[in-house]
Amino acid sequence: MASDRSPDSECDIARILQTKSETKAFYNKIAKVYDLLAEHSEQPMREIAMKMLASEPGERLLKIGFGTDHILVGLTQAVGPTGKVSGIDLSGNMLAQARELLERENLANRVTLVCGDAADLPYPPDSFDGIFMCFTLELFDTPEIPRVLAQCKRVLRPGGRIVVAAVSKRAEQGFVIRAFEWTHRHFPNLLDCRPIYACRAIETAGFLIEDSLVEFMWVPVEIVRARKPSQ
Ligand SMILES: C[S@@+](CC[C@H](N)C(=O)[O-])C[C@H]1O[C@@H](n2cnc3c(N)ncnc32)[C@H](O)[C@@H]1O
Repeated sequence: MASDRSPDSECDIARILQTKSETKAFYNKIAKVYDLLAEHSEQPMREIAMKMLASEPGERLLKIGFGTDHILVGLTQAVGPTGKVSGIDLSGNMLAQARELLERENLANRVTLVCGDAADLPYPPDSFDGIFMCFTLELFDTPEIPRVLAQCKRVLRPGGRIVVAAVSKRAEQGFVIRAFEWTHRHFPNLLDCRPIYACRAIETAGFLIEDSLVEFMWVPVEIVRARKPSQ
């Protein structure tokens, strides 16, 4: 089992102890109730992130770890009929929930959803103008975060942008963060993610940071917009 300390510069970030199949099983189990559990607190953060992405008609967008979420609808409407939205999520039940929502909104034929691991994105280089990832980067174990971001960089076109919202360690380290990390450490099946330094990880991955803020739901959340260098 991995320890909760890493020897590298990310040493104060707790490790992720679950395997990918445990994560997949967890989200398959909670897919039908995810909105009840998280929508109220997470939706305002997603809306800020969505404004930061500022998608435009005709763009090609990728939503990573789309979950059940309603942002797929907003992204599809924003890019319009000439645009293209793709999504990838580890959980087949999340995919079923998202597809049901898109069908209700008559948008299913404008979105391509796949089941897969964001650490190994199944898209060719330069496929997207923008990537959107909310409450998903902090589910990856510390050594895997650079790999996920490298994959994002590969599939983004030069000059393309990424917007990430993630539970953050960047704000003052108060009781809530310590309680969050303690719960994650002792009950990883209940609290599968942990606070990370999203902006620092994105910058280290070679993106140019354009905007970065810390908002508060019941924990601090970093919302970051960054760009892949044009050359
Ligand atoms: C905490 S939920 C967030 C869902 C959605 N982004 C939102 O904001 O409501 C995390 C999502 O990431 C997905 N996920 C977890 N690990 C993943 C991986 N390795 N690759 C792709 N998706 C993953 C889960 O299935 C789940 O739908």
